[in-house]
Amino acid sequence: MFWALASAAASGRLTTGGLVVYAQCAVGVSLIAFGGFSWALDGASAPVAAVLRLERSMAPKGALSSGRRDPSAVPTREIRFRNVRFAYDGAHQQPVLDGFDLTIPAGTSLAIVGQNGAGKTTLAKLLCRLYDPQSGTIEVDGVDLRDLDLAAWRHRISAVFQDFIKFELSLRDNVAPGGAPDTTIRDALASAGATSLADLDTVLSRAYAGGTDLSGGQWQRVALARALCAVGIGARVVILDEPTAQLDVRGEAEIFERILAETRHCTTILISHRFSTVRLADRICVLEQGRVIELGTHDELMARRGRYRTMFDLQAQRFGEALDEEGATHDVLT
Ligand SMILES: Nc1ncnc2c1ncn2[C@@H]1O[C@H](COP(=O)(O)OP(=O)(O)OP(=O)(O)O)[C@@H](O)[C@H]1O
Ligand SMILES: [Mg+2]
Repeated sequence: MFWALASAAASGRLTTGGLVVYAQCAVGVSLIAFGGFSWALDGASAPVAAVLRLERSMAPKGALSSGRRDPSAVPTREIRFRNVRFAYDGAHQQPVLDGFDLTIPAGTSLAIVGQNGAGKTTLAKLLCRLYDPQSGTIEVDGVDLRDLDLAAWRHRISAVFQDFIKFELSLRDNVAPGGAPDTTIRDALASAGATSLADLDTVLSRAYAGGTDLSGGQWQRVALARALCAVGIGARVVILDEPTAQLDVRGEAEIFERILAETRHCTTILISHRFSTVRLADRICVLEQGRVIELGTHDELMARRGRYRTMFDLQAQRFGEALDEEGATHDVLT
């Protein structure tokens, strides 16, 4: 364009005044155009910087290394915590577990009870290898967990945590995030008492067309189905952290008995505050200040008249009182 202006001025077709006006207009327009362009570039590149920052903060602190041993046949004998010490913040914090010893025979169920903050969920996280202990070892059939292939070990584990993830995806993908045959998914939903929640293709969020939302108890059944589905495709260690806290009492007992039956061939760890559920496990361990203070069957622990008995009686008494209140209200109403 500048060349066209110059040639028009040289041949006398454009006056000097016209040349100046046209040239100024051209410069002004290109400034606006390039100014806008660089502004757009700036806006478009901002997410790149954000993602780069995110990568830095998401990089795991002291990333966990994977071993090489194949865990596809373990555990056949036992899972063993041996003198485990663990603090979330390394040496700076009071340890959550200290001198922790526990053996869980393969193919049995163990319930863990203890007060809030006793370290129950921490135990489950260590077993999933979300963290490693600072000292001591966790062994599976005598092999240190750190020597096992990490991804393959996590496939052997099926865990439902207290704060399980609710994917804004279809019911199918919520039950089997890594994929599984529809029959396995339907069986898992049936065992978790969640058959009539929604169609497998329905998205579990109202934010999507045709999507639906679930209640807390219904979500919990979906999370249980997720664990059972993982068992259906090969997991052999099952961790249930407060799996039925949001279910009503009748639903809880019924579902939990069904889950125990479905996971009979697995090593199951159940964390719960509800003693009606806990007593169904083969063995129960009472955790206090990072150590096991009582371990045995429900009957053994009741006979010992220790901490388990105290907690059990307290809950039974409160439950009885609640029933009395319900009964009294009922009488008034009728
Ligand atoms: N990510 C974390 N970072 C730092 N401290 C943590 C973290 N998670 C838990 N803790 C601390 O570790 C201790 C044990 O927590 P944990 O979650 O294992 O208890 P819990 O026995 O599962 O309790 P609850 O019955 O309430 O679920 C608590 O003192 C808690 O504050
Ligand atoms: Mg917990």
